[in-house]
Amino acid sequence: MSDKLWGGRFEASPDQFVDEFGASISFDQLLAKEDLQGSLAHVKMLKHTKILSANEADQIIAGLEKLAHKLTTGELEFSVANEDIHMNLEALLAQEIGPVAGKLHTARSRNDQVATDLHLYLKKRLPQVLEAITGLQKALLCQAKKHQTTLMPGFTHLQHAQPITYAHYLMAYWQMFKRDYERFLFNQKHTDICPLGAAALAGTTFPIDRKFSADQLGFSEIYANSLDAVSDRDFALEFLSNSSILMVHLSRFCEELILWCSYEFGYLELSDKFATGSSIMPQKKNPDMAELIRGKSGRIFGDLIGLLTVLKGLPLAYNKDMQEDKEGVFDAVKTIIPCLKICTQMVETLSVNKERMEQVLTTDFSNATELADYLAKNGVPFRQAHAIAGKLVLHQIKQQQTLQDTDLATFQKFSPQIKADVYSALDQRTAVKRRNSYGGTGFAQVEQQIELAEQFMQKFE
Ligand code: ARG
Repeated sequence: MSDKLWGGRFEASPDQFVDEFGASISFDQLLAKEDLQGSLAHVKMLKHTKILSANEADQIIAGLEKLAHKLTTGELEFSVANEDIHMNLEALLAQEIGPVAGKLHTARSRNDQVATDLHLYLKKRLPQVLEAITGLQKALLCQAKKHQTTLMPGFTHLQHAQPITYAHYLMAYWQMFKRDYERFLFNQKHTDICPLGAAALAGTTFPIDRKFSADQLGFSEIYANSLDAVSDRDFALEFLSNSSILMVHLSRFCEELILWCSYEFGYLELSDKFATGSSIMPQKKNPDMAELIRGKSGRIFGDLIGLLTVLKGLPLAYNKDMQEDKEGVFDAVKTIIPCLKICTQMVETLSVNKERMEQVLTTDFSNATELADYLAKNGVPFRQAHAIAGKLVLHQIKQQQTLQDTDLATFQKFSPQIKADVYSALDQRTAVKRRNSYGGTGFAQVEQQIELAEQFMQKFE
């Protein structure tokens, strides 16, 4: 007979390299704490339902508590021969308390056990993710409050488009992270369902009390279908999908940080704490952290695509393929939280070159829409107004001058509707102030959005 925990029907054991290939202990030991919690809840339930005698259950509980203590002091040693965290801990329990340890697995399977562990693991980490998102939102809001009158060019196609405020720009990211927050909040709902008691796939003949063990573990709900309970990884997919969207936002933000810290833009400067030098070029100040965050988005997308691909062809219920569900989730957790924290600190310590941001607006054509709007307000159909403004832009480019440099006589050659008040219409600050449509960059609009955001953030104080 094989000496495995499941070795009864086997005449031979797998070769060592097969053992190594099949084992997950190298990574699922990260679930040791959750596995012990799950086991404790299970054995308490077995005691409560009298499936085990109080004496047996108490021995197991004491053994598990010992293991939990040893885990914190680093005294537990895991082995590949015991395949995964579940069988490793069961073997260690047997070493602690003898054969009664074998009763722990009554009415349970590794299939509901591993699903429970992963649910517990994410249930604990999601609040940390939410907190890190809130931290970044606070930093963005704080900067936005300080820069409500700081003008900068808004871009489309990375070409100067129309003037906006820096606060408006920052608040766009605040909104994105608000949606991220809400997505992870919802993720908690599907993570907060307990699979324990589904056993291998079909439930159990023992009179278990699933609600009792779920309560022990702090789950709000229990899976209503045992097949679904052991094969569902939607909560992990949602986590990776939410993490991917979050990383898209962080990556876009970091891309702009990188661009804007360049000599060509010169709008921002990172604190020395978040930049690095070059081993050869003494002048360099490189935005490595922002680049790394942008780069780390790739691995998170990989984690998502990896799990989607693992799951897409799996017949119900458990398949060993599902062992591949964990590393991506662990990787995403240990990546997104530091990315959020670094980004928060970069925002908090950024220097803003207000003069540069505003100066570029005095030499560009980002007020061309103002001219078209001015004509349209004076009765010229907008299409025609657009064409006149375009021709004026071309004329002034050839003169190497801006629109506001145009003298009135030249303006009037292009359109007699243009009067002396055109100069105030072309003013960038006026342009921003007038964009007072709901959600626009107008100072009053942004102020209102900042107020709403502050009210929203109050619940996190
Ligand atoms: N190590 C396994 C995993 O991570 C645990 C479940 C094993 N179940 C089984 N029937 N082989 O998925």
